[in-house]
Amino acid sequence: MLKGQEIVKNRKEIIEALNRAAAAELQAAYRYLYLSHYATGMHGREVAENFEEMAKSEWEHVSTFLKRIIQLGGTPFQKLAEAEKLSYAKFIPPPKDATDWERMLKDSIKGEQEAIEFYSDLYERIESTDPVTAHIVREALEDEVEDEHELANLLE
Ligand SMILES: [Fe+2]
Ligand SMILES: [Fe+2]
Repeated sequence: MLKGQEIVKNRKEIIEALNRAAAAELQAAYRYLYLSHYATGMHGREVAENFEEMAKSEWEHVSTFLKRIIQLGGTPFQKLAEAEKLSYAKFIPPPKDATDWERMLKDSIKGEQEAIEFYSDLYERIESTDPVTAHIVREALEDEVEDEHELANLLE
């Protein structure tokens, strides 16, 4: 076993949490990308640009978590169908009305808040046992806090 894996005592639990995170990030990335093309109307297009940026950052989170799962000797989920039940957040489908950017923002804020809750709990749990994952989770947490703030600003 690699030393980098050996030092993590609760490896199994962490791999599980990272799988839940990767699944949630995958859903978030797809949702934001979808909304970036879907949102119409004057303010809707402005909001869409933000969704496009956020989709990219959520994809990066997917990548970071996949990489860490493999580093720890785990197996990331393989079937996309598994993502929905693994994810720590429920997928919120886009609103029927493509001009309803307010709904899109409010649902997105909810998603970010679920992410913030999950990552801050996880960070606390693993801070002393797995500083490497804790660092990654903390960076994701910082991004989601920024996302929440940006989305809230767009609502005003
Ligand atoms: Fe994310
Ligand atoms: Fe986010």
